[in-house]
Amino acid sequence: MAILPIITAPDSRLKQVSEPIADVTDEIRTLMDDMLETMYVAPGIGLAAPQVGVTKRVIVVDVAPEGEPAQPMKLVNPEVVEVAEDDVAYEEGCLSLPEQFAEVVRPAGATIRYLDENGVAQELKADGLLATCIQHEIDHLDGILFVDHVSALKRNMILRKLTKMKRTGQLETVPA
Ligand code: NI
Repeated sequence: MAILPIITAPDSRLKQVSEPIADVTDEIRTLMDDMLETMYVAPGIGLAAPQVGVTKRVIVVDVAPEGEPAQPMKLVNPEVVEVAEDDVAYEEGCLSLPEQFAEVVRPAGATIRYLDENGVAQELKADGLLATCIQHEIDHLDGILFVDHVSALKRNMILRKLTKMKRTGQLETVPA
């Protein structure tokens, strides 16, 4: 396994729409293992392939509370097929926007269809933190960041801070 460099915003590579996966190959399985390792080291609870420079529809998630056994999830071509009527607000962060947080309102629950690591179609009903996390990661596959869900004022403030962090060398930039 390998730890992959994570692209930080603002970066045009995070705004691209990722391609669906036709076959879940060994290459994709290795990518997902590397993404999980990268996420655990960061540490974070979710990571989408475009964050490591791969514009493919793959996400990994683990929302197990600290101190409890890991619950790694690997989702290929994930899509939201149904959402709960109720919304919920979570303070969200993102490995591509280090040290930045904002309250984001999303549906409190979601039904997700995806392919597992063996290419088998699965359906998952998620709520709580898992629902928020999976919706956040699927957004990445469509070039959407959590700051795109908040006011322009808040978004610009966060992006300006990140730009400054890059300029002053507090954030590494990943070469294209
Ligand atoms: Ni994110």
